Amino acid sequence: MTIQKVMVVGAGQMGSGIAQVCAQAGFDVKLNDIKQEFIERGIGVITKNLMRDVEKGRKTEGEKEAILNCITTSLDLKDAFDVDIIIEAATENMDIKQSIFRELDAIAPKNAILATNTSSLPITEIAAVTERPEQVIGMHFMNPVPVMKLVEIIRGLATADEVYQAVEEMTVKLSKTPVEVNDFPGFISNRILLPMINEAIYALYEGVATKEAIDEVMKLGMNHPMGPLTLADFIGLDTCLYIMEILHEGLGDSKYRPCPLLRKYVAAGWLGRKTGRGFYVYE
Ligand code: CAA
Repeated sequence: MTIQKVMVVGAGQMGSGIAQVCAQAGFDVKLNDIKQEFIERGIGVITKNLMRDVEKGRKTEGEKEAILNCITTSLDLKDAFDVDIIIEAATENMDIKQSIFRELDAIAPKNAILATNTSSLPITEIAAVTERPEQVIGMHFMNPVPVMKLVEIIRGLATADEVYQAVEEMTVKLSKTPVEVNDFPGFISNRILLPMINEAIYALYEGVATKEAIDEVMKLGMNHPMGPLTLADFIGLDTCLYIMEILHEGLGDSKYRPCPLLRKYVAAGWLGRKTGRGFYVYE
């Protein structure tokens, strides 16, 4: 299985980052979304990242242009007709993902791999709507994609070994480190990260310490680059709640109960950095 042509579905924060690292590694990339403005925003983010690399002397202007030239844009999933792999990074919603996978299954070449960047939805359930569940796999990148070294590769129940191998090889070509994980709620990354964040929110809720103190303890005491409440704002509190609910429902243990304070912030629309307010206020 040789991978050269990639389609990334979704040009948001994750999708644009994935398109950037694929183009940097020399893959031909089609960046797809449903609206031209979403694509333009994604290309804008990639261009800004590459310009910073040029300013910092990490890339030449020529290299920047060559990377941007590897990316074409697409507003129609039908453009997947000639790609080797599709990495879906659309909204975290099972109905939306299943509908995209159903459509891609009908369009993409028979041997193409269908990968999803879902952070917590079951790969097996997404694969089940296709006629090629053995070619469906999870490829979970971390945010910010150009910086973070990990790709969690998740095997669905039916994923074939050769598909896993091809995705692992591609991940190494992207200069990322692959880690193999089986399909259970939250995989490994979010099964461990989100309960830690949820516990930090409980500590705030119960008045154990201020938000600044909680973050400082984890930054200075555990060498985390961001405190858990700052990280929650970075991820998005709606996403944090969504993942906690998937862990709670999927694993059935009360230890995954989302903190009521997290629910309250989400209900208030305080979703973190993206709305200008979460545990902290952003100008
Ligand atoms: N895109 C591209 N590059 C970025 C970036 C972005 N969005 N954000 C930061 N960077 C780059 C900066 O340009 C900078 O590089 P240079 O200075 O060499 O140009 C470098 O990263 C460091 O950035 P900063 O100096 O601004 O800030 P920092 O040192 O605090 O690093 C950080 C920022 C990399 C985000 C760091 O704080 C960090 O690692 N935070 C934790 C991130 C994390 O845990 N991510 C996982 C989230 S969970 C997830 O993704 C899974 C999920 O399913 C929910």
